[in-house]
Amino acid sequence: DIARTPSTPDGNPEMADAPPEPTKAPQLIQREDYAPFAWLVPEVALRFDLGIERTRVHSALTVQRNARANTAEFIRLEGDGITPLEVTVDGEAINSWSMDDGDLMVPLSGDTHQIEIVTEIDPSANTQLMGLFASNGMLCTQCEAEGFRRITFFPDRPDVLSVYSVRMSGSKDQFPILLCNGNLKASGERPDGTHWAEWHDPWPKPSYLFALVAGDLVANRDTFTTSSGREVELAIWVRDGDLERTDHAMDSLKRAMKWDEETFGREYDLDTFNVVAVSDFNMGAMENKGLNIFNTKYVLADRATATDGDYDAIEGVMAHEYFHNWSGNRVTCRDWFQLSLKEGFTVLRDQLFSQDMGSESVKRIEDVRVLRAVQFPEDSGPLAHPIRPDSYREISNFYTSTVYNKGAEVIRMMRTMCGPERFRSGCDLYFDRHDGQAATCEDFITAIEDGAGLDLRQFRLWYRQAGTPKVKVRLEHDGDTATLHLSQDVPPTPGQPEKLPVPIPLRLALFDRESGEHEGEQLVILEHAQASLTFSGFAAPPVLSINRGFSAPVAIERDTPVEDLVFLAANDDDPFARYEAMQDLVVAYLRDAASGALASERRAAGQQAILSAFASAVTDEALDDLMRGELLILPGHSYISEQLAVADPLAIHQEREGLKALLGSRLQTEFAAMHARASAISDGSDAVARGARKVKTQALVYLAAGVPERAKEIAAAQYDTATNMTDRLGALMVLAGLRSPERTDKILDFYTRFRDNPLVIDKWFAIQAQSLHPDVIEHVKALAKHPDFNIRNPNRVRSLFMAFTGAPQGFHAASGEGYRLIADLILELDPINPQTAARFVAPLGRWRRTERDRATLMRAELERISKAPKLSRDTFEQVTRSLG
Ligand code: ARG
Ligand code: ZN
Repeated sequence: DIARTPSTPDGNPEMADAPPEPTKAPQLIQREDYAPFAWLVPEVALRFDLGIERTRVHSALTVQRNARANTAEFIRLEGDGITPLEVTVDGEAINSWSMDDGDLMVPLSGDTHQIEIVTEIDPSANTQLMGLFASNGMLCTQCEAEGFRRITFFPDRPDVLSVYSVRMSGSKDQFPILLCNGNLKASGERPDGTHWAEWHDPWPKPSYLFALVAGDLVANRDTFTTSSGREVELAIWVRDGDLERTDHAMDSLKRAMKWDEETFGREYDLDTFNVVAVSDFNMGAMENKGLNIFNTKYVLADRATATDGDYDAIEGVMAHEYFHNWSGNRVTCRDWFQLSLKEGFTVLRDQLFSQDMGSESVKRIEDVRVLRAVQFPEDSGPLAHPIRPDSYREISNFYTSTVYNKGAEVIRMMRTMCGPERFRSGCDLYFDRHDGQAATCEDFITAIEDGAGLDLRQFRLWYRQAGTPKVKVRLEHDGDTATLHLSQDVPPTPGQPEKLPVPIPLRLALFDRESGEHEGEQLVILEHAQASLTFSGFAAPPVLSINRGFSAPVAIERDTPVEDLVFLAANDDDPFARYEAMQDLVVAYLRDAASGALASERRAAGQQAILSAFASAVTDEALDDLMRGELLILPGHSYISEQLAVADPLAIHQEREGLKALLGSRLQTEFAAMHARASAISDGSDAVARGARKVKTQALVYLAAGVPERAKEIAAAQYDTATNMTDRLGALMVLAGLRSPERTDKILDFYTRFRDNPLVIDKWFAIQAQSLHPDVIEHVKALAKHPDFNIRNPNRVRSLFMAFTGAPQGFHAASGEGYRLIADLILELDPINPQTAARFVAPLGRWRRTERDRATLMRAELERISKAPKLSRDTFEQVTRSLG
């Protein structure tokens, strides 16, 4: 129908642009379709001629028919954006190869062959940061999950394990340091100004663990002697000038190596362990065999530029990547659906490590806070998936809080049910049985069953079902008996309308109101939809403390009387439960207040209870400041939203800020005194000084809400006299939310002081983008035009835009401008770095749980994105699921 053809202004229909076709759905990969690969690749020899704009890769694969797989007349070698320049089989150039959807198909007739392939890549054009890419003049790789296929053609799947020999060569000037997996075998120079190095990794590994680095780097070197007496050379490689900030990372690494020997019996297995820090990186870090590559954010720290939180994160990520050497590398994953096999387990291992390095209870509270702020919303939204997903279009989208953090919680429950010793036996059996293999989650569960003596038949449902189980709790009292009624319900999630009950281990205690004590904690496992338990010997109704230590990743639903929460907040001997009682007190109040369900009398009573609980937390001399700081953190915006079927983000924000203001003004004296007391504690990196810093900024947060004039002065003084980044950034954060000349001054001062340090400038962007300031949208728009903003650097993008999604008054502005800003970012970033772009879809995906007018706006932005032509697989998948 020519009449309807859209025409150009000059009316010529032939010149008209056809309306752009929306992106076609990429293929859905299903867990059930797993089949072993038809070929084994026992050996790989790679040669790299390195250049920033042109790197030539020669790859030689020894392939053998896999007796355990179906026979094939071809070998499919996956490729992504590369072309074969030469293909030889058994030394003869062939023309019979073909391409299929980017993959190289080579016909093979015998049982073993030698395939050689030449490819050429341009690392400087690799803005996705997957495969081989350039960062600040250096070359490095990221191959997990499917980046190796951007370097050369290969069966790029985790169940194909090979021994790698690598020869790399390049300009000695440009790349004085040449690193690869395993051990250095030989190196040399040539008269033409190039040099070379040969590396050999004796441990068979999948391609996702391959890594290479070439650049002008300097090392912090140390050694570690393993439990069996082998000496390992350790090196942390950074750019010149960053060396002074690597000591904490090195110290963390050595402590992690020792801890893994002592706690899990795991020893390191190469002569060298190299860590390289790069400033352009999509994720936190990567566990490549013997050559970990880290985001600089998780390596570099000194007291002037890194906060206490940064120090903890470095310790945790260093340990995490190191621990992967066993849980991930020695035993890897059969396919990417098994990702939680290595990630959930390794997160649990790094959490236990950090618990042992610092305060166990504070670490537990922090981990639960992250779970609730990120994983719970994921589990109740359109992107919900089991820790072992059933399908994906782009695996990068499944590096999620569910796979990582809920995965860790699920394994932690196993440990809770059998105790640490039996759990250790189960882990020993797992490592023993599967060393050198590509295993499944099922293999892990079976090893724990056999080694720890647990029956996990029903427990396996935790791997299969998405959704946070809800546990209803009711305590009855009659005569001298208390009866506990428990019931559970796993909510429906996309693709899973019906759920079965899961075993839920609940640590609980019943307190006597008079004595403030209990007769010992019990572990109850709720296996069915419902259960009732009786406890005798209670003349008066006891106070129930349940899910102590957060023994199960569930949502407890219970109408606990306010006086019981106040009792637990003051008396519970389980520090987590004490924190939880404070949270519950506030959550119940804010939930009801934000949904307009709070009559003024109950509002006043709720405020009174919260005020007195906070007053005692501020002044209780038995508390250390690190724990006090936890008790004083208000439940986050996203966790409060979770409590409501449909939430009004602005109402939550206003009620939450209102409560802060009330606490800040009514407890002004107490908070100011706490700030003064903590300011007198001498600076240092010990727990006391860290605790002092934590409560100082807490005090400022409440004072800023309640008595801003007074807070400005204290904050400005804290900023000016700060001798460390924790104090300085805490003060700046508070000032950034206020309209005042101090704000302008300190923001400028901070920029000037730290303009040469990208990681600190990231903080500078984030603090403004996530501020409580009413003009936050204007600030973000201006910052996006700042010369230091760079859309190609993921840390910078996250520090501006991800931070902004955490500013409710901006992101959820009634005009929809916040949503538009994020959607515009996604569209601009998608062609540059799809993996990072797709991460921004989730905040918009919450529309079903958001108040109606905003929901319409959020949905409209998702639809606008979905209509874009040539969306990446990453963004396509996330947007489609979010609209679904
Ligand atoms: N395995 C890395 C880690 O421990 C994460 C790498 C993910 N990379 C990616 N491009 N999806 O935790
Ligand atoms: Zn990991």
